[in-house]
Parts: sequence; structure tokens; C-alpha cells
Amino acid sequence: NAPTLDAEAMLEWYDRSARTLPWRVGPQARAEGVLPNPYFVWLSEIMLQQTTVPTVGKYFAAFTSQWPTIFDLAAAPRDDVLKAWAGLGYYARARNLHACAQVLVEEHNGIFPASAEELQKLPGIGPYTSAAIAAICFDEQVAVVDGNVDRVVARYTALDKPVRDQKPFVREVVARSVPKRAGDFAQSLMDLGATICAPKRANCLICPIAQNCAGRKSGAPENYPVAAPK
Ligand code: ADE
Repeated sequence: NAPTLDAEAMLEWYDRSARTLPWRVGPQARAEGVLPNPYFVWLSEIMLQQTTVPTVGKYFAAFTSQWPTIFDLAAAPRDDVLKAWAGLGYYARARNLHACAQVLVEEHNGIFPASAEELQKLPGIGPYTSAAIAAICFDEQVAVVDGNVDRVVARYTALDKPVRDQKPFVREVVARSVPKRAGDFAQSLMDLGATICAPKRANCLICPIAQNCAGRKSGAPENYPVAAPK
């Protein structure tokens, strides 16, 4: 039986410490039933795949002021979208972004599907992005796993094999941990990986799930994830 993350401790921490991000609806508003705009979440998740939060903030503001809705983005000339993307790199992402907006408008009335399975059929939306949108926008109880989550789970379980070869294990640990508040949980894991369980410093003294963390208990949490042989 795979171990689980203490979702209750994560959520308690997130309720106190969630980062304020332009595309995010914070835990207090979510508790009152407010869910985020899927267009904003989708756009931010695509941008965050290759760029840091501060940089994405600027591009996100520029995109959403120029194209406030998915309909505006779908109707934009492709060259305008590519121009606005300049500096973010990986232009295939911008082309997919525009194609995805057009498919959503032409085939889904501009409405994002509410499940990871359906979302994954859209251009540029893979396993990570589909799960992130489904959890964050619709509270679907799916595992949202990116590189930060890989690191957190590898440490938490003191995984003795390269995490690269243990993706199913990481997914299983996260999947078994997802609570009702799936969107807040996904975002709490990402915030934990970004602000506490950082690559070079694990900061266990302020970590909400240090108590049951095998990496902390080992005395050298930064040894995880173990390096893959070349
Ligand atoms: N990094 C990628 N997606 C994120 C999110 N939704 N919240 C915080 N950090 C992220």
C-alpha cells in the first residue's frame, strides 16, 4: 500500500498561506463556492510550464487585457498571439494555445469541459494541464503531478530510486491523497513545492507535513530525489 500525504494538514496550511496569484481564487472565496475562470487557469498553466510565476504574471496581465475571454483569443489573428507570446519561448505552445481557443469556441461553445479525460483531447493539453484544470476549476478528484510534486513525493517517501522511473508510484501516492477539496489540495502541493520543499532546501521546520515525512526523518531530505544514472 502506497503512503499518503496528509491532505488535512496541507489544507490547513494552505488556508493560512496560499499565495495570491492573479489567476487564482483563494481558499476563503472557494469555501464560499467561488470557482476560478477556466480560461485564466488554462492560460496560466500553459505559461507556467516554461516560465516562473513573476514573469508569467506580466504576460498573463497582457494577454487577459488584450483578450479578456476565450472568444477574443480565438478571434485574434495568429500573428498577434505569437507576438504577445514573444519572450516566453516554445512557440509551439502559443500555436497550440490559439488552436485550442478556436476548438473550444467552434466545438464547445467556448465552455471548457469539466473532466481531465475530456480536456486532454484538446490541442496542447496533456496529462498535467488537463488534471490541473479539472481539479482547480471543477474540483475533480484527480492527481495533479508536475516536477515540483515529483520532488515533494520523492522526499516525503524517501524514494530510493530515480523519480524519473517512478511516475506511476508518484501518481498513486497523490491519487490516494486527494480530498474533496481537490482544487485547493492541488494548489497547496504546488505552493508547498515552490515555497517550502525547494530543490536545494527542504525547510522542514515550517513544513505542514514534516511530521510523517520519511525524507525529514532520514536527516538529509535534500538527498531526495536521488539522481538518475547517466
Ligand atoms: N505552478 C504551476 N501551476 C501552478 C498553480 N496552479 N499554482 C501554483 N503554482 C503553480
